[in-house]
Amino acid sequence: MVETLRWVGDPDGGRLWLIDQTRLPTEMVEIEIGTVEEAWEAIKSLRIRGAPAIGIAAAYGSVLGMQPFGNADRDDWLAHFRKTTDYLAGSRPTAVNLFWALDRQRARVDALVVDDADPQELQQALLEEAEKIHAEDRQMCRAIGRWGADLLKHQTGVLTHCNAGGLATADYGTALAVIFAAAEEGKCLSVYADETRPLLQGARLTAWELQQRDIDVTVICDSMAAQVMREGKIQAVVTGADRIASNGDVANKIGTYQVALVAAAHKIPFYVAAPSSTFDLSLADGSEIPIEQRDAREITHGFGRQTTPDGMKVYNPAFDVTPAHLVTAIICEHGVIDPVDTAQVEKMLTAH
Ligand code: MRU
Repeated sequence: MVETLRWVGDPDGGRLWLIDQTRLPTEMVEIEIGTVEEAWEAIKSLRIRGAPAIGIAAAYGSVLGMQPFGNADRDDWLAHFRKTTDYLAGSRPTAVNLFWALDRQRARVDALVVDDADPQELQQALLEEAEKIHAEDRQMCRAIGRWGADLLKHQTGVLTHCNAGGLATADYGTALAVIFAAAEEGKCLSVYADETRPLLQGARLTAWELQQRDIDVTVICDSMAAQVMREGKIQAVVTGADRIASNGDVANKIGTYQVALVAAAHKIPFYVAAPSSTFDLSLADGSEIPIEQRDAREITHGFGRQTTPDGMKVYNPAFDVTPAHLVTAIICEHGVIDPVDTAQVEKMLTAH
């Protein structure tokens, strides 16, 4: 099986390989990322995407960024390291996993600098830390799957939005981990995948991942969710998250908030699955979460065809915030947060 991303080689000359997700579902192509600029571009253009996968890619990106400075003196190395991590942090603003992973790299370097480490040792440590972040994400996804599977009953319909699967993480996913784990327990599920305008992560990626695993999946346009719920086809909604504030407000792909409102109107539970690396306890609530604005051409010329008149005004926020009161429970690697409020979020995250 091809991995979402993988590092090949040593700290000084190694390269990052990743599946170019912009080419799926019709082409499965791995691309080689050899410079920090290529890593930045891959994150910005969504070749690699999904909050945890962005964090892992940025961690490896920092290793690539420091490869030209193996012979620099330590102060120069540190100055370039700061520039490199700041540069990567500017690739996308919403998924907090990006900043979390870069902070892990900075903390690792800071700890070694105190011990007088030289650039070679620092470079080695950057790769070790990136590999640790990668491996931990794998474990967190499996744990999310185990906790979440209990929430889905046999023979039910589950709606998901965007792609929170193996492609969005080290592997196995967050929202899709819940579905995969339930299916592995023998539960028969009918999954509905919102196509997820404008970049179609649901139609292109979630549908592809579920099909690969022989799980029944039906793609619907985003605007069909209410009707499909009214027809009684959905008994639970599970999505991922890009950033969760202290009070449990959830930023996720644009359209998630709408799905949560519709689920509430139909009294259908709305679950969010995300690792602890997606929580941002520095924010009291979701109003402070930066929302990425993306290029108008994603809407006016989606997938190569002009679909609006010339010069059309476009608004293209890539994420929205679902208020905590619409979230039935949050599934993280430590357990299930229910009810979703500041006290429960804090209790779950600080106990571990
Ligand atoms: O713009 P994207 O494709 O990076 O957005 C991804 C999402 O919104 C996912 O649902 C989220 O990152 C969770 S991934 C496990």
